[in-house]
Amino acid sequence: MFRPLLAALMTAAVATTAAAYPADMGGPHPAPLRGAALLHQPESMSFGVFYYPTQWPQSQWRRDFEGMHKLGFDFTHMAEFDWTYLEPEEGHFDFAWLDQAIDLASKAGLRVILGTPTAAPPSWMDERYPEVYRVDEHGQRHEHGIRAEVSLANPKYEAFVTRLVTAMARHYGHDPRVWGWQVDNEPSTFPDYSDSARAAFQSWLQKKYGTIDAMNTAWAGSFWSTRYGSFKQVHLPNATLAAEDKLSPHALLDFARFQADTTARFLDAQAAILKKYARSGQWVTTNYTNVSTATDPRRSHGLDFPSFTLYPVAGTNILGGDSYAIGKPANLMEAASYFRSINGTFGVMELQPGQVNWGEINPQPMPGAVSMWMWHAFASGASFISTYRYRHPLRGSEMYHEGIVSTDGVTLSRTGREFVDTLHEIKTLEPKLDNKATLPSKLAARYTAYLWSQDVFWDLDIQPQTTLWNSWAYRNTYTLAVKSTGAPMDFIAEDDDFNRYPFLIAPAYQLVSQALADKWRRYVEQGGHLILTSRTGQKNALGQFHEGPWAAPILDLIGDDVEGFDMLPPSANGAVNANGKTHAWHRWADILTPRPSTTVLATYADHYYAGKAAATTRKLGKGTVTMIGVSTDDGELEREIVRSVYQRAGVAIDDLPTGVFLDWRGGFYVMVNYNPQPFSPSLPITATIVHGHTPLVPAQALVWKEASP
Ligand code: GAL
Repeated sequence: MFRPLLAALMTAAVATTAAAYPADMGGPHPAPLRGAALLHQPESMSFGVFYYPTQWPQSQWRRDFEGMHKLGFDFTHMAEFDWTYLEPEEGHFDFAWLDQAIDLASKAGLRVILGTPTAAPPSWMDERYPEVYRVDEHGQRHEHGIRAEVSLANPKYEAFVTRLVTAMARHYGHDPRVWGWQVDNEPSTFPDYSDSARAAFQSWLQKKYGTIDAMNTAWAGSFWSTRYGSFKQVHLPNATLAAEDKLSPHALLDFARFQADTTARFLDAQAAILKKYARSGQWVTTNYTNVSTATDPRRSHGLDFPSFTLYPVAGTNILGGDSYAIGKPANLMEAASYFRSINGTFGVMELQPGQVNWGEINPQPMPGAVSMWMWHAFASGASFISTYRYRHPLRGSEMYHEGIVSTDGVTLSRTGREFVDTLHEIKTLEPKLDNKATLPSKLAARYTAYLWSQDVFWDLDIQPQTTLWNSWAYRNTYTLAVKSTGAPMDFIAEDDDFNRYPFLIAPAYQLVSQALADKWRRYVEQGGHLILTSRTGQKNALGQFHEGPWAAPILDLIGDDVEGFDMLPPSANGAVNANGKTHAWHRWADILTPRPSTTVLATYADHYYAGKAAATTRKLGKGTVTMIGVSTDDGELEREIVRSVYQRAGVAIDDLPTGVFLDWRGGFYVMVNYNPQPFSPSLPITATIVHGHTPLVPAQALVWKEASP
């Protein structure tokens, strides 16, 4: 079950309170890892690999499982897309082949994760019940042939899922060889405009609003005659059909919430069936994508912990040079910070094993990259890493996707060799890990919470106001700025305890209720350091503007008035001055008028607001509030201001280049380098390097121990 981090675990940290940490705030957040106990695993971190028995001759299964075990894998993962083999005819189940595969895997020394194959329904379902397929934004019903094409709101499909998952749970729920379950695959990323979805949306709205008048008020039904006379009249808001005009942003926000609730309900329903039959100790998770946009993992309450999939190299080049071959720098860092904070435990369910097939360009990962991702996942606290997949397919849609072993089924691929070597290096460290060790005080003093809400993210995307706005890239700017200090970081939600963190950042947090503004104020008055940025506080929790001054609930907190905001076309020039430097901006500029006792950190250099404030800071109670109203083109100003917040608070920080990350696990510091340039960290004299070298060259990891925290 997803639960907030256990209070009991939190209190264990009080003893390690760092000097800079406000004494009355409960102590730094240690987030002790409890994965090993929750997952019932003998290792602190387990390693596994995906296998699809139905894609290979039965005569090779034993060899393949034995091969995995010999290489050092602890578990394998099966049955994920095999609905057609598990229920070859409607209502007739066949578990014989999977029984045999599990038997061979277990005899070879592997534990087994089973997938529920609900992302890949069989062809008989399409033939008899085409209505279970989703309808896209163009009104086109989808059909058999690829994955994840069903309507999660369709009652018929739900009944098929219930029957299949019940049959699997009855058959394997008590099997000691089955370690745990992954329900579905990378759940729901596509919108569904089917009749089933429409009916479900209408019920969802009825439940939420009670009366149609209440919904009309929330959706601004008085605007353009868009109000409804009954819930039955409500359409699914389809922005594609409304391309030349704008749909109600409130309807779109509710549709996003509804879709996420539908997915969460679908996952929780499967988890509930599995739990009903599972022996004690068998756990249930799902493999979210690392960038979770349409889903909201925090809406799910039936899973034991979350896991995510990770493919850093697929052609995108963020940091320039050869860094495209090291991978997107923020992916693993953000995903681990996000999923770990849900209940303190997470796994990497799929890790790219080498070259993939689905990017626009599919380069080879740089030598070292696969290994570095593994160290990074280890350092971030993953309970397991499972790589996708054991064998390189010889046929089918992913035949250009590498595996751990090459096309002959036995020889390690270049990257497979790297995976296996690193697996052994991490296993070698295992006996030296102290899983009870508390976070070193220098890291605890910088521990930072990033306030995140899917509702806010959806709302920003619904009304971006400029095509230059990219909510995810904006988030990356701030997470990378925080991580440049070497701070540990957790994504948290509004109802979490802010006081566990000395620093709290809430970038572009557009939907702000008075209750949230009051909670921020209490946090700061008690000694917290709060960073707010562009767009924060413009709307209330419903997504409507406050009746009052712009950004009304945060004005007394930031110590500014917000006069308005601007954005520029790429052809125009916008400049902002700070600390003797000039930064270009186009995306967003909140124009701030500081009140007495607020300090200006940056000013606009041009346009009618030249000389006005772009960023400010102030003391409030025992803490500080910093407001960064501008979004610069390269994010450099934001990085400098974020770093200055720690410095003004008297907290020591590192100065890590973008893409160099520092983490700590069980007594060991781990630094990884996604940047195309080498980096020379200054390690304390007491440091003993146990893996890697300085300078830290691109795509490498450095692991060391320090004599004292
Ligand atoms: C993932 C997906 C896997 C597989 C993999 C290939 O996104 O979950 O099933 O298709 O991509 O890289």
